Amino acid sequence: MDALGIALIGCGTVGTGVAKILLERGERMLSRAGRPLELRRIVVRDPVRPRDPAIPTTLITTDFSTVLSDPNVHVVVELVGGTQKARQFVLESLHAGKHVVTANKALLAEHGTEVFEAARQNERTVAFEASVAGGVPIIAAIGQSLAANQVTSIQGILNGTSNFILTAMADKGQSYADALAEAQRLGYAEADPTLDVDGSDAAHKLGVLARLGFGIDVPMASIERIGIDRIDATDLKFAQELGYVIKLLAEAWLNQGQVAMHVAPVLLRRNSMLAQVRGAYNAIQVMGDVVGETLYMGPGAGMMPTASSVVADLIDLAVGRAQRTFQQLRLWEASAQGFSLRSN
Ligand code: HSE
Repeated sequence: MDALGIALIGCGTVGTGVAKILLERGERMLSRAGRPLELRRIVVRDPVRPRDPAIPTTLITTDFSTVLSDPNVHVVVELVGGTQKARQFVLESLHAGKHVVTANKALLAEHGTEVFEAARQNERTVAFEASVAGGVPIIAAIGQSLAANQVTSIQGILNGTSNFILTAMADKGQSYADALAEAQRLGYAEADPTLDVDGSDAAHKLGVLARLGFGIDVPMASIERIGIDRIDATDLKFAQELGYVIKLLAEAWLNQGQVAMHVAPVLLRRNSMLAQVRGAYNAIQVMGDVVGETLYMGPGAGMMPTASSVVADLIDLAVGRAQRTFQQLRLWEASAQGFSLRSN
């Protein structure tokens, strides 16, 4: 069977992980996808920046138009982050007949309706498992596995950097600044870490999950958010003395047809499930009206966990599963029609 041709846009932490999986585990990819997953191009801004030796320089280009015009590139993997350039890359790729895989929660939260509509118009697919909770398959869980349910609440630790900082401060007595610097060094933080610590990144991810679970388009300004940048060591110490831990929680719940959403640091009892989530791990509790409460947990940030979800989307595309899921998404959204966002 013909290879699935892939172009990566962006070769930072996650892009490097994706390239390494595709280049070094070709046999596994073939066995899972039934055809080769072939990395054909890597589009970058700076071609001479030092990179992992596993990345062949022959694949590197600065010219995105060569991706659009190459009939052997079937999928564009957008990993540049941000919303402006990324939006342009994604829309142009879809209009050129390419499928898109993206880890970009900010793009989907702010321009999701436009991006999904462009995909539908062009009969292409947007796959986005890596956009929420890194390596945790939460998009598949809500978008596919819980399809028999009406989701009634979503509650989660959705930002690995914030959870890493809170854990390091509480367990090791590390300072906020040192813990943030370590999260950046380990590749967990956004290029602009303000988005991690002020609650914006968690709000973006909550917006993506709310689109799936409740079928609503959520303007980002409508999610009230407080980050961890206002928490200090004394808050954590008092919480600990009282038998609690502090976690940055993103919450959305459905009540009488209205969805309320917010992101804020909250006190959780030390023995509760979400209180056990440490380091850069994420966890999401999803309540469905048929299944009851479900819990998903795992590494929520960083190179290989996020790359794991990107490559899973590529395999899904290669076998036709992603297309089916994307088509189902519209039905899933339509079934939730009529819910509105509760104003704060
Ligand atoms: N900066 C994000 C986080 C990366 O810390 O969770 C994963 O989306």
